[in-house]
Amino acid sequence: KTVAIVGCPFSGGQSKLGVDKGPIHLVQAGLINEIEELGWRVVFDGHHQFEDISTPPDGIQVNGTSDAAVNTALDASIARLRSPLLVAQVCESVASAVQAHAEMGHLPVTLGGDHSLAMGTISGTLRAYDQACVIWIDAHADINTIHSTDSGNIHGMPLSFLLKLNPPAPSPDSVLAKFDWVSHLPAERLVYIGLRDVDRGEKEILKKHSIKAFSMHEVDRYGIGKVVEMALDHVNPQRDRPIHLSFDVDALDPSVAPSTGTPVRGGLTFREGHYICEAIHQTGLLVAFDLMEVNPTLADAESVRQTVTVGCSLVRSALGKSSICCRVCCQRGC
Ligand code: ARG
Ligand code: MN
Ligand code: MN
Ligand code: MN
Repeated sequence: KTVAIVGCPFSGGQSKLGVDKGPIHLVQAGLINEIEELGWRVVFDGHHQFEDISTPPDGIQVNGTSDAAVNTALDASIARLRSPLLVAQVCESVASAVQAHAEMGHLPVTLGGDHSLAMGTISGTLRAYDQACVIWIDAHADINTIHSTDSGNIHGMPLSFLLKLNPPAPSPDSVLAKFDWVSHLPAERLVYIGLRDVDRGEKEILKKHSIKAFSMHEVDRYGIGKVVEMALDHVNPQRDRPIHLSFDVDALDPSVAPSTGTPVRGGLTFREGHYICEAIHQTGLLVAFDLMEVNPTLADAESVRQTVTVGCSLVRSALGKSSICCRVCCQRGC
């Protein structure tokens, strides 16, 4: 059993500086050693190298707008996107990295970086496991389309690309064509846990496509144990599909994980967050894990330490830290 760490120091899917420092901090906090102590072999080739944002190579515009005329409603929507070409290019290279590890039988653990990266990680997973399902842990739904987004930040949109909810590219040189490589995730293979800040347009999308979501209201009502079971019953009824777990640290309450770009009150407790990771580990079906939106430049030093520590701890739980095997309950010696 091998874990591949994919460090993604990338912040282009949103506007706050510092989220690109997330992976470096997580690794410096000792994450690699901690995973090895759980009995995994860890491959870590250093942090992913991305093209320099400040000097984009010829023909690559950081913004899709520099010389494109705005003639149609589609052009206008595209023009409001923040760094679409950069995000598309970075995510495509992340997809290849995740795919390559997955095809070698490694379990890719991607450290973000902002959540736009999940377009890449999930595409990589789907290329290696076409039946994979996605469990998305977040305060936000991250499913705005190019038309519904208010912010233009692509970290609020990765699922609209994965579910192919955006209009097709009108021509091969359109900005939208740069997202054509994104794999298709069928809506019934997505489930959310932790939502509490969903935009109006996003609510319509969730309804229209019957996407299953367990908000904090359901976590309160049923308890996290039941919610995880119901989530699995939805995306993985036979318990035979590989699972990609994408964890935005802002799903946790800001009192637990304060150093993140878009904190929202009323989130998952420390234990609820860890329980999700433990329960998914116990399915034996986890094939990829993302830990996103840790921003070690937001808030004071103690808050940063707390957030980085809890981030490492979630990764350990997803990789089996809490399987204290009694050899009585499960007989698997896990
Ligand atoms: N819904 C808001 C937007 O579209 C916030 C998204 C926050 N996403 C995140 N990955 N933290 O911009
Ligand atoms: Mn979020
Ligand atoms: Mn997110
Ligand atoms: Mn046991």
